[in-house]
Amino acid sequence: MPRVFSGIQPTGELHLGNLLGAVRNWVEDQHRSDSFYCVVDLHALTVPSEPGSLGRQTMDLAAALLACGLDPEACTLFVQSHVPEHSSLGWLMQCTASFGELRRMTQFKDKSQGQESVSAGLFTYPTLQAADILLYDTDQVPVGEDQRQHIELTRDLAERFNARFGETFVVPSATIPRDGARVMDLQQPDRKMSKSSSTDAGIVFLDDDPAVIVRKFKRAVTDSLGEVHHDPEGQPGVSNLLSILAAATGRAAEDVAGDYRQYGPLKADTGEAVVELLRPIQERLRDLRGDPGTVEAALRTGAGKASSVAAGVLDRAERNIGLLPRT
Ligand code: TYM
Repeated sequence: MPRVFSGIQPTGELHLGNLLGAVRNWVEDQHRSDSFYCVVDLHALTVPSEPGSLGRQTMDLAAALLACGLDPEACTLFVQSHVPEHSSLGWLMQCTASFGELRRMTQFKDKSQGQESVSAGLFTYPTLQAADILLYDTDQVPVGEDQRQHIELTRDLAERFNARFGETFVVPSATIPRDGARVMDLQQPDRKMSKSSSTDAGIVFLDDDPAVIVRKFKRAVTDSLGEVHHDPEGQPGVSNLLSILAAATGRAAEDVAGDYRQYGPLKADTGEAVVELLRPIQERLRDLRGDPGTVEAALRTGAGKASSVAAGVLDRAERNIGLLPRT
């Protein structure tokens, strides 16, 4: 069975982009691969947050992932800081990456732009992400399109380390879905849907009320062409709706486009499809929020399973690089 690893930051609530771009595929992958999914709380420390809020957000995200269908019997769900090997291998990766290649990361450029103070951790963020992935001898990394560059860097670092110190890491590949890989903001369809957007009107959160979801789609920004084509360059708003409807119903966006001539029905049907997609998730989430014991138990078991794999791979990396073995 292939080994799968992916991660998600506990910053802000889970949104439709996370679900369609990544988490839905994790739920499918858990039944056909040996899957590890990680709430990357250490990555969340790279940007400022309210003191004391991170633990709460980590619990809430873990509950949301379980509500989406991750099954602790079928996959390993855990919190990054509970497995200290991530930080240890992160340092080895910092010493493998070059300053120049980290400076070229578009996520760093986006997130640091206009900020008064930028943490060193935000700059070295992709090296910790590489460590996350390489620690599990990962074959496949299911992510949205925005993570492609980080996975490419991870591959480069693994190959460089292997070339310098001998076969140590499995070189992983990104798996990116056909539809839903880049869900755009409903109000600004030239920007991806993101937790850091300034307004909520363009973001569909996992626990938005059905009426709110329908209204957000009704008010989605389109264009004045009056035609329905899947053309992300020329018609970004309309194409975003088509991609969401396609991803939610398991069809191809080009196919879905043939069903519509007007924007009104397209917006209404997309809103309805998303409400239906989220309904069972929202029900489970309500239950899990009232049952923190179940979430904590899943994370405890997950950390144990993750540690047993991570310890072996870290040991291999430390030995190959030439650190003095512990006796
Ligand atoms: P994060 O927390 O920003 O996002 C989690 C996952 O959701 C996907 N995603 C999207 N997909 C489609 N459309 C969107 N608008 C959208 N927004 C987010 C992301 O591509 C991602 O798959 N650096 C990572 C976390 C990470 C990680 C890892 C991922 C840390 N270590 C190791 C994979 C493997 C991040 O910030 O994702």
